[in-house]
Amino acid sequence: MSAFKTIEWKDDQLVLLDCTKLPVEESYVVCKDYRTLADAIRRLVVRGAPAIGLSAAYGVVLAAMEARGKAKDKEDFARLVRKAIEDLSQTRPTAVNLFWALSRMNKKLEDLLFLDYGTIIKSLLEEAHRIYEEDVKANIQMGKYGSELVLPNSSILTHCNAGALATADYGTALGVIRYAHKQGKNIHVYIDETRPLLQGARLTAWEMVKEGIPATLITDNMAGYCMKLGKIDMVLFGADRIAANGDVANKIGSYSISVLAKEHGIPVYVAAPLSTIDINIESGDDIPIEERDKDEVRHLYGVQTAPADVDVFNPAFDVTPNQYITGIITEVGILRPPYKLSIEKAINGLRTF
Ligand code: MRU
Repeated sequence: MSAFKTIEWKDDQLVLLDCTKLPVEESYVVCKDYRTLADAIRRLVVRGAPAIGLSAAYGVVLAAMEARGKAKDKEDFARLVRKAIEDLSQTRPTAVNLFWALSRMNKKLEDLLFLDYGTIIKSLLEEAHRIYEEDVKANIQMGKYGSELVLPNSSILTHCNAGALATADYGTALGVIRYAHKQGKNIHVYIDETRPLLQGARLTAWEMVKEGIPATLITDNMAGYCMKLGKIDMVLFGADRIAANGDVANKIGSYSISVLAKEHGIPVYVAAPLSTIDINIESGDDIPIEERDKDEVRHLYGVQTAPADVDVFNPAFDVTPNQYITGIITEVGILRPPYKLSIEKAINGLRTF
């Protein structure tokens, strides 16, 4: 496990390692109410699909604790918590883990409403803790399956941050990297800087340095040349939402490196838990893509780098069509094309892929 805690429930509060401050400062944001948490999710204090879902689950607990002190009766209590769930669901649109976790908490709430407040809150907290534990377990399983794909002495290019900072712990794509490193495979990681918000440079590089995993940081536009020079043996990244046909939404730039990899004959693997698969969405065309503030592109870490009035397009994610993806590493095994079939089987608990 990691030497730091990304998300921690402590003294009836949610403590978040502030990803906006890393790597310069290791500081924490303490959420005493769900509104502070919603703001933290929006500002990317906590980010990465599984971490967003998990922290929102704890947000429902915070909302229930607050509602208990305010509600006139049980109906009013339910109304207040449902409103918080709705508010939390409005924070970020692409990572499906957010909606998955909130609907799980919502179901728990509806099932428990006939009980007393203390029991409801205790059970909601247990459910959030369960999501935490399941996420860690899934990541270790992904690490184990994914590591079988990693050749000794090979180099892996990763994009954005799909590490312990993006999950309860251990990470998805970085979980595979952690596992392979621990097995002594002598791997080397190439890290895309990941403009505009530098999750690669700030967060993945921080995790790799902390773990002592050999890594080299490159700017996003260097990936193709590194592939041409034979420096990359495998591309590996996480996902924010995977459609039923295997199209993958992930951090903007994932599509570009996948197309480049195909041209260079390099395999592209995606590591994600089943909770990131949205079987209600047939193809990537229907995945909602978050557009963020234009100043994230006009500025680089608080410093203006473009004219204040230049127009900007700032999608936070892109979609890699399934034909560019060699395999999807999940906690139940590695899914292969045709993804419609392998995804359906994985979701239905059939281990025949
Ligand atoms: O905008 P972010 O930082 O939340 O984007 C995160 C990513 O794109 C990750 O690659 C994805 O959520 C997978 S995290 C295990």
